Amino acid sequence: MSRLDNKVALVTGGASGIGRETCKLFAAEGASLLVADVNESGGEDTVTSIGENALFQYLDVTNEKKWEEAVATAMDAFGGLDILVNSAGIGFSGAFEDTSLADWNGLMNVNLTGVFLGCKHAVRAMKKTGGGSIINLSSIAGLVGGEDIAAYSASKGGVTMLTKSVALSCAGRGLNIRCNSMHPTYVDTEMLDPIAELFGGRDAMRAGMAESVPLGRLAKARDIANAILFLASDESAMMTGSAMVVDGGTTAGLPSRHTVK
Ligand SMILES: NC(=O)c1ccc[n+]([C@@H]2O[C@H](COP(=O)([O-])OP(=O)(O)OC[C@H]3O[C@@H](n4cnc5c(N)ncnc54)[C@H](O)[C@@H]3O)[C@@H](O)[C@H]2O)c1
Repeated sequence: MSRLDNKVALVTGGASGIGRETCKLFAAEGASLLVADVNESGGEDTVTSIGENALFQYLDVTNEKKWEEAVATAMDAFGGLDILVNSAGIGFSGAFEDTSLADWNGLMNVNLTGVFLGCKHAVRAMKKTGGGSIINLSSIAGLVGGEDIAAYSASKGGVTMLTKSVALSCAGRGLNIRCNSMHPTYVDTEMLDPIAELFGGRDAMRAGMAESVPLGRLAKARDIANAILFLASDESAMMTGSAMVVDGGTTAGLPSRHTVK
């Protein structure tokens, strides 16, 4: 028996990074996959790398109509919906007071409203099929603030609290639907491309950013996908409303040394 045998999963952001790695791992564990993204060629690449039991679905997570279509596709093509991973996300950095309203709203729409819409339509489908597991990608920035990522951090903090509320709402009505949030440290994906540019290259970025991670490296997409797999599977049956941190110790405590080397 594989860990996700007979399960149907919809993964947003499936064209890249954590979402893509999650799709590949889920498929290896027996799930059928609806790979959803606005990036069609990247999404098709993910599907090709999986082979059987995977379909690409164009989905802009800010568009409610498209959510209805995506969930209907999963139900029609695979006969149900057991797992939703909300991995689609965007970010930018800069001084808080220089953030335009358009940029703020654009980021909130994808990172927070997109997750709300996903939870809403997945829960409606899962109510019909008897249960499920939802995993929302937040961030360590959804637990603590960041000096130059106010909009991103606010959106991810919203995801943290939305997750707990969805979890309680479903548990309170005995729906057998669990909802947990995932909080990675820096993950070596395309999302960090702009930061790599600031460092003058990917290797310099990896070395520079690893200094703020107690375990001494950036996370790989696989590190996060492994933890998402646990939350998606029945092994985490007693977990709902939790915030799982996969951060190499980044948020465990005070960053500085108190002894001189
Ligand atoms: N990479 C990190 O350091 C890091 C750290 C913590 C949390 N996260 C979170 O993890 C999630 C995945 O990040 P990643 O590193 O894989 O990023 P990524 O940039 O590699 O992938 C994000 C995917 O989301 C898709 N996307 C963007 N807007 C969309 C929309 N409106 N509708 C549908 N798809 C859309 C993109 O096309 C892309 O394929 C994000 O929510 C991110 O905020 C990332």
